[in-house]
Amino acid sequence: MGSTLSFPLLPRLSEFVAAQTGLHFPPERWGDLERGIAAAAPDFNFSDCESCARWLLSAPLTRHMNEVLASHLSVGETYFFREKQSLEILGEQVLVQLLQSRRQNERRLRIWCAGCSTGEEAYTIAILLDRLIPDLKEWNITILATDFNPKFLRKAAQGVYGEWSFRDAPGWLRERYFNKRSDGRFEIHPRIRKMVTFSYLNFVDDVYPSLSNNTSAMDVIFCRNVLMYFTARRVKQVAGNFYRALVDGGWLIVSPVEASNVLFSSFTPVEFPGAVLYRKMVDAGPQLLVGGHQVPQTLMETESVPAEPMVADADIHAVQADQLPVLQPDECETPSCLARNCANQGRLDEALKWCEKGIAADKFNPAHQYLLATILQEQGQHDIAIQSLMRALYLDPDFVLAHFSLGNLHQSQGRYRQAQRYFKNVLVLLRKYPLDETMPEADGLTAGRLVEIVTSLLASLPQTMAVSA
Ligand SMILES: C[S@@+](CC[C@H](N)C(=O)[O-])C[C@H]1O[C@@H](n2cnc3c(N)ncnc32)[C@H](O)[C@@H]1O
Repeated sequence: MGSTLSFPLLPRLSEFVAAQTGLHFPPERWGDLERGIAAAAPDFNFSDCESCARWLLSAPLTRHMNEVLASHLSVGETYFFREKQSLEILGEQVLVQLLQSRRQNERRLRIWCAGCSTGEEAYTIAILLDRLIPDLKEWNITILATDFNPKFLRKAAQGVYGEWSFRDAPGWLRERYFNKRSDGRFEIHPRIRKMVTFSYLNFVDDVYPSLSNNTSAMDVIFCRNVLMYFTARRVKQVAGNFYRALVDGGWLIVSPVEASNVLFSSFTPVEFPGAVLYRKMVDAGPQLLVGGHQVPQTLMETESVPAEPMVADADIHAVQADQLPVLQPDECETPSCLARNCANQGRLDEALKWCEKGIAADKFNPAHQYLLATILQEQGQHDIAIQSLMRALYLDPDFVLAHFSLGNLHQSQGRYRQAQRYFKNVLVLLRKYPLDETMPEADGLTAGRLVEIVTSLLASLPQTMAVSA
């Protein structure tokens, strides 16, 4: 297959890809771009790279095509215990404090590994928690791991790895947390695998934070070695969404090369030896903390962290997190709106109370039961959440999001046959909706997007479904 693109095509293609996927290919990465298009060509039914490139430039892409393209152009490089400094800071500083404060009341911790690739990073976090928390069973721990490449997600969910994934891992890792298989590969212990939920999420197209995909009220978001491939404009948008997805005091962890006070300007940078972490501090305003101490504003950009965006982009006018519309208390007076607001900020007990008030005032509204289930799910009360979703379906059998949540809940508990049934129900019900219609109770998610997500989830259900269900 020919794969040498003529010169004028490359800059046009690079611009086109940035607009479609957020991924940035400056001239020094045109070789990668060309290789990616060559790899994508067969998926688009082309036998040569140049015809595929011309075709891509000539017609608008559907979302699915866009994802096929992005999955060939994104880099999936990852391994266990990558960038140990951030992990040490996480364990020794961030988590120790968080666990101490949460131990007194609600034993709850929510971590999102955004751009998880084949799962090594998410499992590393699960293993860290396993070592840090002696009474792990008493805690409600969420480790959500998302990516937009279904192949990566399938591999992640299997949890089987070759030697290369352990290239920088401590010696004890394989021995204590993996079983060696007859083919020489290593399978993660089921106990650790169950701690992580893998889901599809595209930073460019999907809605987040949202209760419907469990991306709100996070304590820590890991997004390492992902944003470095995006244009600065896109990084700002994603950072704004992450800001809103964190609880007050929550942390964003990017890789050291991605640290930038400009791109993460809504966060407070906190400097530790070898790494800068970004913290959401609603009332603090911009300041730099070094090991917890405040540093004068004038030193911020010059001495401590790289000030330049990682990708040059003249148009850094994306919406900043603090400019996003925030619901004011007087605009939000119904119990369900108040419940949502509390849940989005991680105040789940309060959210439950508002939800119960909503149900008492309007017993036959399935949306209240759905909201209740979403909050219960965040609290780790999966069985009661399932009951609420069943009640929602009793009130409205065509409630698409309730079927979707039931699919997700059963999948996360390893009941793949039930998960498959509910996901299929979603696809059947969605036939009635125009693809661009926004789904009720779904924070702006369209029917078309939901079809894609559910199709991808169905494809990622383990092949062993018949025996495991
Ligand atoms: C280099 S890997 C990083 C993996 C891991 N975070 C680490 O540091 O080892 C980048 C991952 O980001 C994912 N990614 C890139 N663009 C994305 C997008 N728009 N939405 C979701 N995931 C994306 C890729 O599929 C890939 O798995």
